[in-house]
Amino acid sequence: MAGSRIYHFDEVAKHNDAEDCWLIVSGKVPNLAFRDHAVGFNMAKCTLHGSFFSMLQVYDVSSYMAEHPGGRDVLLSATGKDATVDFENVGHSSSGRELMDNYCIGTIDSSTLPKDGEGVKAQ
Ligand code: HEM
Repeated sequence: MAGSRIYHFDEVAKHNDAEDCWLIVSGKVPNLAFRDHAVGFNMAKCTLHGSFFSMLQVYDVSSYMAEHPGGRDVLLSATGKDATVDFENVGHSSSGRELMDNYCIGTIDSSTLPKDGEGVKAQ
């Protein structure tokens, strides 16, 4: 089942090696997504309650590294940043997207994201 914890970006960025790899990818709630200049791009608004929430999900793919058809290196290079564009550029299939749910552990607190919008690589 998908996790529901809210993580700080810095904490997620620390998980950046082959045995312990977390990714940040958005888009789990595309129908609710809209761009709001006040709160930033990676936020969505609940159409029922009007509240804002983060669309950026956190995935712990440590156990998936060896199985990933694209290999482990691409996953490693997608750590420590918002990897949504990298993920989307590949054109993952719908079954690939469904798989993601198995690894979802929560969402990002958007206020903790680096301000440049692209993210920074962790050391
Ligand atoms: C939880 C996250 C991810 C899951 C579950 C996942 C799953 C998959 C699956 C199932 C495929 C086979 C093709 C398909 O069905 O779409 C695939 C291919 C691929 N993935 Fe991912 N992926 C994830 C994240 C990423 C990220 C962040 C990248 C970064 C660029 C990436 C790069 C690739 C590449 C390059 C391939 C192409 C393989 C090829 O056709 O040669 N994936 N992935």
